[in-house]
Amino acid sequence: MSFVRNAWYPAFWSHDLGRALQRRTMLGEKLVFYRTEAGAPVALEDRCCHKFLPLSMGTLKGDAVVCGYHGMTYDPTGACIRIPGQPNIPAQARVRSYPAVDHLGLVWIWAGDAAAADERKLFRLPAYDAPGWTTNRGPYTYVRTQYQNITDNLLDPMHVSFVHLSTLGSPEMADIPVETEQDGDRVTVIRWTLDRPPVPIIRKLTGLDTHCDRWQYYNYYPPAVAITDFGSGPVGMGHGEADRDGAYRAYSCHFIAPETEKTSHYHWMQVRNFAPADAEVSRTMTDQLIHAFGEDVAVLEAIQAAEDEKPARPPVKLVIDNGPQRGRRVVERMIRAEQDAAQGAASGRSAQARFDNKPARSSGGSQAAE
Ligand code: FES
Ligand SMILES: [Fe+2]
Repeated sequence: MSFVRNAWYPAFWSHDLGRALQRRTMLGEKLVFYRTEAGAPVALEDRCCHKFLPLSMGTLKGDAVVCGYHGMTYDPTGACIRIPGQPNIPAQARVRSYPAVDHLGLVWIWAGDAAAADERKLFRLPAYDAPGWTTNRGPYTYVRTQYQNITDNLLDPMHVSFVHLSTLGSPEMADIPVETEQDGDRVTVIRWTLDRPPVPIIRKLTGLDTHCDRWQYYNYYPPAVAITDFGSGPVGMGHGEADRDGAYRAYSCHFIAPETEKTSHYHWMQVRNFAPADAEVSRTMTDQLIHAFGEDVAVLEAIQAAEDEKPARPPVKLVIDNGPQRGRRVVERMIRAEQDAAQGAASGRSAQARFDNKPARSSGGSQAAE
């Protein structure tokens, strides 16, 4: 499997990264993470350029990492700044550095060409910092499944009626068809359930006990972010943004990064507009969703195990797979665009090299040298 490289991927909760070296594999590459004394996140290739000892086995000295084998020392840009017992530092004595930033309470890395890293491409959620809204966060979750099984699940409102009956779902939702929309790279699957009792989690957190209109907007922002906008309001409510803001509304935010082709890093949080100062509501929300997302993890790891058995027949596609299929097509398009750009750059370089190597013509006009 290839991955979209020129994108931001979440690696750690910001509060989980400090002045200790931590290793984490991202998109099949081994990285070491730490913070500088000023608190900036740093992500480097976790492999000393000398004998390849993982730098995560070394130590931090100020803002630099000292290799645990022979003391080569690297600054946050990955440049070697000291080789014990040797005054000259070869130009190639460096490790790869990945652009890293704190955003939405997470440390994100740019996994591709560092020159293309663009903080304007970080996912933004206006409600996150808005007055009257608050955030609760779940634990970092390691999932033994490929990341697209997770993103498929996050474009799939149907599974809620079968996997999450005690928290997020109710049986009658299962027979309501979903609508799929696409806006550029963003894919959204929508379902409204009208004039029904609230789902268990909303009843528990808000006390709402009468019939209501409920919505689920499953948004996927490829490759790494999925936001489920869900909530409940009075029967007959409007469906616009302001209508939903005026009801019980929460964004369930899912941040996913491939670790390898078959394993993933998963961070999640909710941003909600009800009981914003109530820590007990935050705790209950987190506990309920640890339970619910644990149910997803069990399903998704079992699916990966079944895929690993390489079943002889392809999966049968259903109407509910429209959204997930679109999400995967966007990812494929992004990967293809990166590969085309890389190929274009490589053929441009070789054409330039041919041009640069072309011998000058002799004054006699002979072309023999060509
Ligand atoms: S392996 Fe790192 S300095 Fe030798
Ligand atoms: Fe789920």
